[in-house]
Amino acid sequence: MGRVIAIANQKGGVGKSTTAINLSACLAEKGKKVLTIDIDPQGNTTSGLGVDKNNVENTLYELLLEEKKVKECIIGQVIENVDLIPSNVNLSGAEIELIGVEDKEYILKRAVDKVKKKYDYVVMDCPPSLSMLTINALCAANSVLVPIQCEYYALEGLSQLIHTIELVKERLNHKLFIEGVVFTMYDARTNLSLEVVENVKENLQQNIYKTIIPRNVRLAEAPSYGKPINLYDTKSSGAESYRLLAEEVMNREG
Ligand SMILES: Nc1ncnc2c1ncn2[C@@H]1O[C@H](COP(=O)(O)OP(=O)(O)OP(=O)(O)O)[C@@H](O)[C@H]1O
Ligand SMILES: [Mg+2]
Repeated sequence: MGRVIAIANQKGGVGKSTTAINLSACLAEKGKKVLTIDIDPQGNTTSGLGVDKNNVENTLYELLLEEKKVKECIIGQVIENVDLIPSNVNLSGAEIELIGVEDKEYILKRAVDKVKKKYDYVVMDCPPSLSMLTINALCAANSVLVPIQCEYYALEGLSQLIHTIELVKERLNHKLFIEGVVFTMYDARTNLSLEVVENVKENLQQNIYKTIIPRNVRLAEAPSYGKPINLYDTKSSGAESYRLLAEEVMNREG
């Protein structure tokens, strides 16, 4: 039965999409069947997995508006073992279209529940906001993985995110839990990265992944080739670190 993981942090540019793409790809590399869902109108996960976001017909938007069935929105095998539900800018209109729709928080959950038995993992990339889109992801998820960028304002907004997750858990999805936080864009040449890691470890009562994702230019380049890091530069530090993260995620089962 698929484990459903939402990758969320309402702070922008912390590495959510990079983590969604490369965690999916590295789980797939280990033989796991993965469904990746792009829940961000920016469509970065869609293009990062090599799909032309301006040329997709059935997207998460059509799914949320219940114009299409979930199976019609899945693009099979965008890379080996990874299926994708794509998104593009149309999705930014969904929030307004859903005003007044009953049980709108659970639309994605109902869709995911229909297909998750076919997968080992469902990985969802959230937008940088605590919007109805993120709430749909949190309702569909078993757990949340929170990327934290190793920079001075790392902790800013984190308490708001944790509060939101707790509200959703209390009112909408009792089984939801925080899987853990993962540090991203760690720069070993600066003291700041190290200080941020130490500071977060002291102040945050959450699981913290042992794997720390380094700042690696290959990770930033890969999306423009539409490839995850393990296929773009398999020996890069970025690829190695996302493989380790995938292993840790697999080991946290149960
Ligand atoms: N470990 C890394 N090393 C180098 N560059 C990185 C790394 N992780 C992410 N980046 C780059 O940083 C930028 C932001 O990353 P990403 O898009 O994954 O963040 P995000 O949280 O999804 O952003 P948004 O909130 O806009 O959705 C991108 O240009 C990405 O290529
Ligand atoms: Mg993103």
